Amino acid sequence: MDRLLVTGGARLAGTVHVSGAKNSALKLMAASILAPGRSVISNVPRIRDCDVMAELLEHLGVSVRLSQGTAELDATAVDDVEAPHELARQMRASIVILGPLLARRGRARVALPGGDKIGARTVDLHVRGLERMGATFRSEHGYLVAEAPELHGASITLDYPSVTATENLLLAGVLARGTTVIDNAAREPEVEDLALYLTTMGAQVDGAGTSTIEIQGVDGLRPADHTAVSDRIEAGTWAAAAVATLGDVTIDNARPDHLELLLAKLIDAGAIVDSDERGLRIRQPRRARAMDLVTLPYPGIATDFQPILLAMLAVADGTSIVTENVFEGRFLSVGELQRMGADIRTQGHHAVIRGVPQLSAAPVRSLDIRAGMALVIASLCADGVTEIADVHHIDRGYEDLEGKLVRLGADVRREGDHVVVPDPAPAR
Ligand code: UD1
Repeated sequence: MDRLLVTGGARLAGTVHVSGAKNSALKLMAASILAPGRSVISNVPRIRDCDVMAELLEHLGVSVRLSQGTAELDATAVDDVEAPHELARQMRASIVILGPLLARRGRARVALPGGDKIGARTVDLHVRGLERMGATFRSEHGYLVAEAPELHGASITLDYPSVTATENLLLAGVLARGTTVIDNAAREPEVEDLALYLTTMGAQVDGAGTSTIEIQGVDGLRPADHTAVSDRIEAGTWAAAAVATLGDVTIDNARPDHLELLLAKLIDAGAIVDSDERGLRIRQPRRARAMDLVTLPYPGIATDFQPILLAMLAVADGTSIVTENVFEGRFLSVGELQRMGADIRTQGHHAVIRGVPQLSAAPVRSLDIRAGMALVIASLCADGVTEIADVHHIDRGYEDLEGKLVRLGADVRREGDHVVVPDPAPAR
């Protein structure tokens, strides 16, 4: 296990290039199952999750070549329909092979994370939507087994605009007989990117990026090439890091139109934001002002930003209130930030953050992608050297993490992990 050693105090300055969006590339790769032949996806981030998706697709019989940010996928044969435990457990995104497998093969057997069963919260919307399209489900030895000899169109209103549920229904609907309408659909740019790719493959999709998506099923799709949209979460991460460190960072390849609310919040905090077609520049001349914010489905502030903004607000001037509306229990970063001297209290899905002028380096542990990145930002604002263990979590979402940090002037080093880090303190 690697760990990062970060010496605090640097103001991030310079240019950072944003990679392709993980949450788009993974779905685009899964979509290749739908068309026999060779598709090429570019701007694929070089991160562990994309390797796992490649392994998963190979297991299904797709030939995959992942190199230098390009995925060449040949789905002439999709011989297997099973996503085995050892691969599916590694990332939630593996669930998006369900829709394409049902559409292409009429069957799917997808392992679920431990404890999950049919109707469990994490996939109930996927299951109910696909049932409306003619699929049947059963739970078998920890696997969700789905069958649909023929999918048909349906009108589906999601209880909640779930991103991966919307994507699974979209991926199934493009080859279903008739018209599928998804109401209360997720509006995330990654859903729109997937629809764009499917359209290039010959699918008929209208309304992606809005709350109502209409899909006219077609008889077959052809392979196609596509470039994944740039990663708005990575771009927003660098923007928040610039604010937290009183930096001056140009974020190349960012899409300001996908970050409107976040940027408005950073401007409230005192940031000077310039944007053009090449990206963004964020300057923070003085200590950020505290603020209140809530996470919501897109175009609201993404839940993925929440831990990152907690770290930023931990050193802001004043008291902030952050409300998490998307995932319960996503205050994972709080205990570790407290170990670094952050004054954060949580109650239910609210966190109250009283900003302190500086954090204090401590041995901490990365608990998931964004909670880990929050610790990187906090460590840049701490006195001394922070040791962040379990960096593999951060690597799942950020390509070339320390390379990008070092080029922005941070003092960061990666080492093999031989240090025992105490268990995280419970969040208050
Ligand atoms: C995706 C992203 C993740 C991001 C999240 C919210 C991927 C691979 N991951 O996750 O990075 O944080 O969107 O923007 O794209 N829910 C149900 N039943 C379901 C599905 C979801 O109750 O069948 C609930 C979840 O428990 C959660 C909420 O809906 O509370 C949002 O989940 P969802 O939008 O589905 O997130 P993911 O698609 O899993």
